[in-house]
Amino acid sequence: MRALTIAPGRKRSLELVETEEPTPAAGELLVDGLALGVCGTDKDLIAGEYGWAPPGSDRLVLGHESLGRVRTAPEGSGFAPGDLVVGVVRRPDPVPCGACAHGEFDSCRNGGYVERGIKQLDGYGSEVWTVEAGYAVKIDPALSEVGVLLEPMSVLAKAWEQIDRIGGRAWFEPRSVLVTGAGPIGLLAALVGAQRGLDVHVYDHNEDGPKPKLAADLGVAYHHESMEAAVAKAEPDIVIEATGAPSLVFDAIGATSSFGITCLTGVSSSGRKVGVDAGEVNRDLVLENDVVFGTVNANLDHYAQAARYLAAADRDWLRRIITRRVPLRRFKEAFQGQRGDVKVVIDLQDA
Ligand code: BGC
Repeated sequence: MRALTIAPGRKRSLELVETEEPTPAAGELLVDGLALGVCGTDKDLIAGEYGWAPPGSDRLVLGHESLGRVRTAPEGSGFAPGDLVVGVVRRPDPVPCGACAHGEFDSCRNGGYVERGIKQLDGYGSEVWTVEAGYAVKIDPALSEVGVLLEPMSVLAKAWEQIDRIGGRAWFEPRSVLVTGAGPIGLLAALVGAQRGLDVHVYDHNEDGPKPKLAADLGVAYHHESMEAAVAKAEPDIVIEATGAPSLVFDAIGATSSFGITCLTGVSSSGRKVGVDAGEVNRDLVLENDVVFGTVNANLDHYAQAARYLAAADRDWLRRIITRRVPLRRFKEAFQGQRGDVKVVIDLQDA
C-alpha cells in the first residue's frame, strides 16, 4: 500500500512510500482509508517545524483528519465491515495525568500524550490503516462525503463547550459572535454560532472566492474591509480567533464587550513581534471581566457532539467547504495552497 510520510524536523521530506499493509492488533479495526483532510498543522509538519516520529523510527505517516471504511472489526467491538469511521487524533499519556485519567486527554497536563500523524504515532495518510475500536467514531452513511470534516468539527465542538463553561461563571446569554478567518475552522465555528441562533459575523481579508458566498449561504455577515469595521458591526460578546495571525490575535482580545470571551484556536509560528499596549490590554480584561483562552484538540465526547453539529448542518453547504479533492498520487498539489482553497482533501482511493 502507499503511505504519505515525512521525516519530522526535516524540511521537504514528504514522500509517498510503498509499505506493508498494517495488521490489526487485538481490539483494532482494519480500515480502508477514503479521504484525508489537509490542515495547517500538516503544512507545519512538512516544513519541519513540528512533529515527532514514532519511537525507533525516523519517519512518520502524516495525516490526522481521517475518513475510512471498516474492512475487518473484532467481534463485539460495535463495528462491522462497511461502517464509515473517523479515527480520533490523540491518545492519553501513559502516566496518566489527572485529565487523561478522566478521559479528558485533550486537556493533558504533562504533555505526555501522543497524536496520530503528529506526535509519535503514525497517522491516517495511508491506503489502509488500523485504529483501536475505542478511538474510532462511526459516521452516519449520509455524511459519507463530508465525514472527513468530523475532526476539525470536533475541535470546534470543544471550543464552544469551553465558551459555554467559561460564560457559565455568571449570567450569560451571548447575542453575537465574531469569527476571525473564514478557513475551515472559522467557517465551522460560524456554523455552530448560526445553529445556536447567534448574530454571527465573520472577518476575512478575502474579498472574493468561495468564502463570502459560503458565509452568505449560512446566513451570517461577512466583513473583509478591516477588523475594526467588523468589530464595530458585530459588537461581539464572543470572538473566535481562527487565523493565528499575531496582530489579529490582539485585535480579537480587544474586540469583546464586557464579560467577553476570546477563544484562540490558531497555532501561530513564533518569531513575529507586534507592538501592544500591555497596560491597556490588562486594564480592559480586568475592568470588563473578560476571558481569553486557548483551545486545542478534542476528546471522545467532543467527537460525538461534532457528529451532531454536522448532522444538523446543510449537507450541500458542508460539501462546498471542501473546495479541492486531490488524488493521492498527486499528493504534492494538496499541500500547495491555491486561490479559493478552503478545505483540501486527499482522495486515498485514487488507484
Ligand atoms: C489537530 C489537533 C492537535 C493539534 C496539535 C491540530 O491540527 O487538529 O487534534 O491536537 O493540531 O498537535
